[in-house]
Amino acid sequence: MPSSPTRRKPRNCLWIPILLCLFNELSFAEAESSTILLPSQQNNADSVSTTFSAHCPAPDPSLNYRPVIGILSHPGDGASGRLSNATNASYIAASYVKFVESGGARVIPLIFNEPEEILFEKLELVNGILYTGGWAKNGLYYDIVEKIFKKILEKNDVGDHFPVYAICLGFELLSMIVSEVYVSTVQAYNYPVTAFQWHPEKNAFEWGPKAIPHTEDAIRVTQQAANFFISEARKSSNRPPARKVLDNLIYNYSPTYCGKAGKGYDEVYIFT
Ligand SMILES: *[C@@H]1O[C@H](CO)[C@@H](O)[C@H](O)[C@H]1NC(C)=O
Ligand SMILES: *[C@@H]1O[C@H](CO)[C@@H](O)[C@H](O)[C@H]1NC(C)=O
Repeated sequence: MPSSPTRRKPRNCLWIPILLCLFNELSFAEAESSTILLPSQQNNADSVSTTFSAHCPAPDPSLNYRPVIGILSHPGDGASGRLSNATNASYIAASYVKFVESGGARVIPLIFNEPEEILFEKLELVNGILYTGGWAKNGLYYDIVEKIFKKILEKNDVGDHFPVYAICLGFELLSMIVSEVYVSTVQAYNYPVTAFQWHPEKNAFEWGPKAIPHTEDAIRVTQQAANFFISEARKSSNRPPARKVLDNLIYNYSPTYCGKAGKGYDEVYIFT
């Protein structure tokens, strides 16, 4: 969350990570290193002796190494009607799923227009939430974004570390919600909420629009942003029944390739 929520409504979502400075957890410090270090060794990277240590620390029992992220679907088919014209269709671009997977987590889709009790049951199966880009800023979609966000703040308030990534449209919606309802709350506490005005997931996974950079640095931005999100989700103490998680994973659905149009997303999951 930006430290001072404003009503600013960005007109464009930038794919170029020029706002990287907002996100000070990202670091390129290791980019030039020729020695590959385990993440746990990197703090000591200056010390030559630790560079050659092959010691791998034991897993931290306070962390959840099987985190699952809920991604909220967005109205439409994500392909301007090329894939589905169903009025109740919603979609998740597969790049968000790959982004989460690249950080070491699995995904449960939260289908925004399914019955609320089912949606909120699924919320109990995850360890973090990702709000995607898109265009919907009112109606049922907005209401659900807000209800889920309230629930997440409640979870954090009672000590369940529950991170949120809000990308592009998600950034705008949270800014609207926060500036209207939660100013004091958000300023009073430190929630694990990170909002992006740009698209950290696209660099590695979307190939249609020519403006998306695929340089090594750009790919590292995707990877670092994914790593940070999932490192936060590992702090969640939520340990839902494994079977229920499996039944709801996005692997129960198949993405559709729609990248041949040369625009939009490469692959989308559609829910009808
Ligand atoms: C949706 O409607 C448009 C316009 O009528 C049509 O061109 C397109 O083929 C339809 N999409 C599907 C998946 O049927
Ligand atoms: C969408 O509409 C179809 C047909 O009316 C229905 O079977 C399906 O359950 C609906 N899906 C959602 C998510 O509401």
